[in-house]
Parts: sequence; structure tokens; C-alpha cells
Amino acid sequence: MRVVEISRFGPPDVLTLAERPDPVPAAGEVLIDVDAAGVNRPDVIQRYGKYPPPPGASDLPGLEVAGRIAALGDGVTGWSIGDRVCALLAGGGYAERAAVPQEQVLPIPKGLTGIQAAAIPETFFTVWTNVFQRGRLKAGESILIHGGTSGIGTTAIQLARTFGARVLTTAGSDEKCEAARKLGAEHAFNYGTTDWAAEAKSVTSGRGVDVILDIVGGEYIPRNVDLLAVEGRLLQIAFLKHARAEIDFSIMMRKRAWITGSTLRPRTPAEKGAIARELHQHVWPLFEQGVVAPVIHSTFPLAEAAQAHRVMEASTHIGKLVLDISR
Ligand SMILES: NC(=O)c1ccc[n+]([C@@H]2O[C@H](COP(=O)([O-])OP(=O)(O)OC[C@H]3O[C@@H](n4cnc5c(N)ncnc54)[C@H](OP(=O)(O)O)[C@@H]3O)[C@@H](O)[C@H]2O)c1
Repeated sequence: MRVVEISRFGPPDVLTLAERPDPVPAAGEVLIDVDAAGVNRPDVIQRYGKYPPPPGASDLPGLEVAGRIAALGDGVTGWSIGDRVCALLAGGGYAERAAVPQEQVLPIPKGLTGIQAAAIPETFFTVWTNVFQRGRLKAGESILIHGGTSGIGTTAIQLARTFGARVLTTAGSDEKCEAARKLGAEHAFNYGTTDWAAEAKSVTSGRGVDVILDIVGGEYIPRNVDLLAVEGRLLQIAFLKHARAEIDFSIMMRKRAWITGSTLRPRTPAEKGAIARELHQHVWPLFEQGVVAPVIHSTFPLAEAAQAHRVMEASTHIGKLVLDISR
């Protein structure tokens, strides 16, 4: 099969088209003939050598795919050869075939293309487990989503808005802020030209926000803690700046606040399966009703994966980048 591999750690050019043997599905796994694969920021970090695949995972980048089931490993139940599916992977998505534990597979929502479905798993699993399972966001509460036009941000805005939360967000340009508002953010703050923390405090009448989803870290951490409402939850899922900060923990005590976070990739197939079941129950109907949709910025042939990474690193995109493996 054709794959794109990381020939050595470094800039986008290290992504190289290569041939590899087809993966063989182990017991409990399905083999997918891949039509499309999502590109995520963690793939870029992996390419720099800073996000190694967990033990046993493919060394190829790629955390999500969509396609058709081509073969079943021993003991697979509930899936058949030919089923149109999308799946969350621990690696190996930049390839014409991928083997994945059956728990991490979901049907392509009715009415969606393979390209759209490939853009779903990584961000929807991440947002669901952090914002709804860990952050317990409820209707009527407020949420601040940093990086509102990222793959993660476009997903979080739509889900939070659809489940009845009041959405505030940050982004790096006025154009991105406008896109975030169109997706359902009530307020979008350009972090380059405004003091997002002061603005968020103001639009919540000084109360602060109930939930913050942060991918930035660094000096955002104490500002986030200051901005939390009483009983607020700070969800830290990445550190685009850095992971160290000084905070006044007495604020946590006075506000009865929580700081948590999680990474998805090293979690077990059973844990990922539990997230998949909730997504299927609560979010798949929203795709099928057209209430929520993955936001796709652009698609690239597999051989142009390096160009997709250049676009991601330039951060000019709004939403997701997808590799069209059929091209
Ligand atoms: N914990 C988990 O399980 C998990 C799972 C998936 C992804 N993630 C993380 O979530 C983040 C988003 O992933 P993604 O795939 O959605 O990436 P993405 O689409 O590339 O989005 C990254 C966003 O970050 C903003 N940004 C970049 N550098 C920044 C900086 N120095 N300060 C502030 N904002 C910056 C950019 O928007 P602006 O132009 O607005 O700055 C861009 O929209 C990544 O860091 C990724 O590693 C975590």
C-alpha cells in the first residue's frame, strides 16, 4: 500500500511517499480501505519528534480515517466487510489501509461523505471527553474556547452551542473571529488586538466563565484561572506555548474551581469505545439532522501531505485539513 511516512524528524519535507505491506488486522481489529484521512496538529508535533506514538501503534502519522471495512480480525462482532466507517486511530492514518480496534470504529453518519467523516473522530472524541465528560458543561453555562477556528475549536463551538451553552472564543484574526461567530460563538475575541480575559469578564458581568478549553498554556494559565467562575473548570488539552506557569492556588480554593486535562491517544480501546458509544448516541443524530458538521478548510492528495502540514503550521486554516487518499 502507499503510505506517507516520517523519514526523519523535521520540517514538512520529511513526509515522504513510500510503499509498505498492508497491515494485518489482529484479533478484535478491522482493516479499513481508507478513502480519506484527517490531518491534526498532533501529527505536526509527531513529525518534529515531540509526540511519539504509544507502544504498539503504527509509526505512520494519522489519527483518523474514513473508508470501507476490507477485512475482519478474529472475534470482531457488529461490523461486516463493505461497511462505510470512520475510525479513531493511535497512528497509521496516512496510508491506503489501516487496522484499528473495533471499539474505535463508528458508521459514517448518513448523508456525509468520506472526506467529511475523516474529519470527525480526533476532534469530536477529544471535545466530547474533555468538555462534556470531564468538564461537565451544562446548558445555560458559559464556555471560553481558545483557538476557536482550530479543528478542535470549530468542533467545540458547535457542540457547546448545540447543547445550550453560551460560547465565547479567541482567535488570531478578525476574519477567524467572524468565522467563529458564524459557527455559533456569541463573542469572539481577537487575541492580537483585544484583552480577551477582560472582554470575557465584561460579557459575563464580572461573574467569569464556567468552563475554559485551552490549547495555549503558558501565560494563559493564570489568566484562565482568574477568569473562572465559582465552581469553574479549566480543561487543559495542549500547550502551544509551554506547560509551566505560576498560579495563585488560593483562587482555586476561593472559587472551588477545578483544573484538569487529558490526552486521547494513549487511552485504551475500551476507554475510546466508551467515548465512541456516547458520540454515537448524542452526536451522530446531530450530523444526520445537519445541526453539526465538520468544518473542512481544504483537501490534499496523499502525496501532498507535506503541503497540508505547511498550511497547518502557517495557521491560516479555519477548521480541518483532510488527505483525499483516492486522489
Ligand atoms: N489532549 C488531546 O487529547 C488532544 C487531542 C487533539 C488535539 N489536541 C491539541 O489541540 C490543539 C489543536 O489541535 P488542532 O488539530 O485543532 O490544531 P489546528 O487546527 O492547527 O489549530 C491550532 C490553532 O492554534 C492557534 N495557535 C497556533 N499557535 C498559537 C499560539 N502560539 N498561541 C495561540 N494560538 C495559537 C491557531 O489559531 P490562531 O491563528 O487563532 O492563533 C490554530 O487555529 C493542538 O495543540 C493539539 O495538539 C489535543
